[in-house]
Amino acid sequence: MKELSIYVHIPFCERKCNYCAFVSYCTGEKEKDDYIDELCKEIEKRKCDGVVRTIYIGGGTPSILTPQQIEKVVKAIYDTFDVYDNAEFTIEANPSSLTEELLTTWKRLRVNRLSIGVQSLKDKSLQKIGRLHTKVEALEKIKMARKCFDNVSADLIVGLENETGKELCRYASQLLDLGVKHISCYLLEVYENTKLFCDVKEKKYVPLTDDQTITAFNKLANYLQDKGLMRYEISNFAYPDYESQHNLTYWERAEYLGFGISAHSFDGKNRTANADNFEDYKAGKISKEKLNATEELEEIIMLGLRCKLGVETAKLQKLGYDIKQNSYYADYVKQGVIQEKGDRIYLNPVFYHLSNTVIANLLP
Ligand SMILES: C[S@@+](CC[C@H](N)C(=O)[O-])C[C@H]1O[C@@H](n2cnc3c(N)ncnc32)[C@H](O)[C@@H]1O
Ligand code: SF4
Repeated sequence: MKELSIYVHIPFCERKCNYCAFVSYCTGEKEKDDYIDELCKEIEKRKCDGVVRTIYIGGGTPSILTPQQIEKVVKAIYDTFDVYDNAEFTIEANPSSLTEELLTTWKRLRVNRLSIGVQSLKDKSLQKIGRLHTKVEALEKIKMARKCFDNVSADLIVGLENETGKELCRYASQLLDLGVKHISCYLLEVYENTKLFCDVKEKKYVPLTDDQTITAFNKLANYLQDKGLMRYEISNFAYPDYESQHNLTYWERAEYLGFGISAHSFDGKNRTANADNFEDYKAGKISKEKLNATEELEEIIMLGLRCKLGVETAKLQKLGYDIKQNSYYADYVKQGVIQEKGDRIYLNPVFYHLSNTVIANLLP
């Protein structure tokens, strides 16, 4: 029986953060109810064979849905699909909307992993990027979440104004002291059409330079690894057995179904994307993306080398590419940048910060 992963997109937020380009809107309860109804219809309509091994409800901000709204979505999933008893089930939460009532409801609904957006633990920073919570609130909510859930992850952003590596390590230390098992460290991206983009242009906000960001990131990465977390993907660190199984699905190019506005699905060969606005979504509009052989090769190399899964060289060969004949390959192996184990190759995590260059050089 084939295995599947499920992603559900909740495109709502209490307030848009200045840096965020995710598909998410601020809206009223009626719109949320209408969306949940459409979401459940979509889930039921796309019933298929297979057993679900991971579920991920992300956004946007799933924690602004009421317990009843979330319950409806989860019921639709479990009524439609076979789900392993031990399936990893993650929900994303924002500290500003996380409540005890939500936590107990999620627990009852079989959620077993939380991913909480922390970003920073400095009030001035949080305020400047448009977050609604303070440092104290973020820490309190994590403490509260940990009482209900063992597997809690936190997101940090690296590159924010005046945030040094030393400070980031202090944030990480506070999170680990509260029992956080997984930390995602994202490099700040300044997207056009965000408030942050204007603030940067007008010099109201000065993010770290690229060099400063890399220095800060490396300091944080070393700190987390010293604390016993594994860097199992470029941006993700976890204690052993706490890697996100759902993320691994994406990186190993396994099948997943994406439900909701702007959600993507992958059947092992082709990708489809749902419309990114409610009207088109409701009308069932989807766009298809068919990868040609070169694009498929590139994707396998990029995804595999960026995480602990590595790349199966025979798979590349089947698609007509002998990576070992690449002019950079032998040198990378000699320098220890690329490691060979059995029929797989890996990017040595020590060189993750050079991944863009290494991967670009190794592409066909
Ligand atoms: C869907 S949000 C997480 C849950 C919740 N919406 C929140 O923000 O608390 C996913 C994560 O993406 C990261 N992110 C979003 N926009 C980013 C950007 N422009 N640069 C770096 N990281 C970003 C943040 O760390 C954020 O927590
Ligand atoms: S970072 Fe999270 S809360 Fe902020 S706008 Fe993006 S999805 Fe919403």
